[in-house]
Amino acid sequence: MAEAQDKRNLENTVNVGVVGCGYWGPNLIRNFFENDRVELKAICDRIPERMEKLGKRYPTVQKTTDYDKLLSAYDIDAVVIATPVHTHHTLARQALLAGKHVLVEKPMCMTEAECLDLIALAEERHLTLMVDHTFVYHGAVRKVKEMVTSGQLGEILYFDSVRVNLGLFQTDINVVWDLAPHDLSIMDYILQKTPRTIHASGACHAGNGLEDVAYITVNFDDNIIAHFHVSWLSPVKIRQMLIGGTRQMVVYDDLEPMEKIKIYDKGIEVQSPESEEVRYQQLVKYRIGDMLSPVLDLTEALKLEVDHFVDCVLTGTPPITDGQAGLRVVQILEAANRSLKTGELQVLDAVSVG
Ligand SMILES: NC(=O)c1ccc[n+]([C@@H]2O[C@H](COP(=O)([O-])OP(=O)(O)OC[C@H]3O[C@@H](n4cnc5c(N)ncnc54)[C@H](O)[C@@H]3O)[C@@H](O)[C@H]2O)c1
Repeated sequence: MAEAQDKRNLENTVNVGVVGCGYWGPNLIRNFFENDRVELKAICDRIPERMEKLGKRYPTVQKTTDYDKLLSAYDIDAVVIATPVHTHHTLARQALLAGKHVLVEKPMCMTEAECLDLIALAEERHLTLMVDHTFVYHGAVRKVKEMVTSGQLGEILYFDSVRVNLGLFQTDINVVWDLAPHDLSIMDYILQKTPRTIHASGACHAGNGLEDVAYITVNFDDNIIAHFHVSWLSPVKIRQMLIGGTRQMVVYDDLEPMEKIKIYDKGIEVQSPESEEVRYQQLVKYRIGDMLSPVLDLTEALKLEVDHFVDCVLTGTPPITDGQAGLRVVQILEAANRSLKTGELQVLDAVSVG
């Protein structure tokens, strides 16, 4: 019987349990519930009321306030962790030790050491460890990645991101840890480059020591510069990225309902100075061409991501957003926090693309 059960799990279906039914958990629960290759066995939250509404929508799914019970009582193969960041390491570690595959929310952990611990544990036990870097599975981001990889944009010059609104002030993490993981994970996925230095500045206006406005600059060896503006204190919501290449430039506006990506055939051509006179006249010539907004795959990112997680669990394939991707984002976040506290530029020798 146990053998038959194992066979079922390995070949066809993944039995899943989700912990954390606050703001984000229900999105994961819905997508796991709707996936044909998943049996959502149980959900867990310390606060029973958080599960009540969900219980009505998913009557066949078991509910528990006890995480130990989630791991032991429902025959689950994989755990999805949608709890606050400071709990990720403990809950993921416990799940891996219990032999469960893990999908953990962003940011993966609070420290580089915690990430490395989970990566080692998953490797040792041949378990899937994946981080929910949702935007990596978004049609717009996948399109930009395609353009960068194919060389359509030319050499990448800069990556510029703004993610601001009148946001929900968190009580345990600053705005960098809350919002920047999205943009850093997109940059990591698209550029596949090793950052060299990080500088961050920010300010706290709520009197709790947690920055609510911040600016992070990331420099790379090959003259690529990236900048991130994150804020909970903006009167307007902006979700915009500019990615500049030597051939074309892209604007990704996540709030645009249809034309989220616009590709501009614009740029500059730098003339080689033939004489001192030319040097002081005009070194830069402008190239102004067409703008194109490509058709995007509008499938919900989380749906694709959940399906990818299921594939990885069933086949043992490493996830696109694996533990290493989670680690790289946490390394930048930690460096940004150090820079926020000291005002100093952080040199990153250890961050490398896997
Ligand atoms: N991928 C995304 O786009 C996205 C969006 C929002 C939030 N998130 C991430 O999701 C995670 C959760 O964020 P949220 O906004 O949903 O938080 P939340 O506070 O709304 O919900 C967290 C839930 O976890 C429960 N919980 C905490 N510790 C628990 C434990 N030990 N056992 C059982 N339940 C426990 C809490 O009771 C709460 O209901 C965070 O890591 C956040 O960064 C990701």
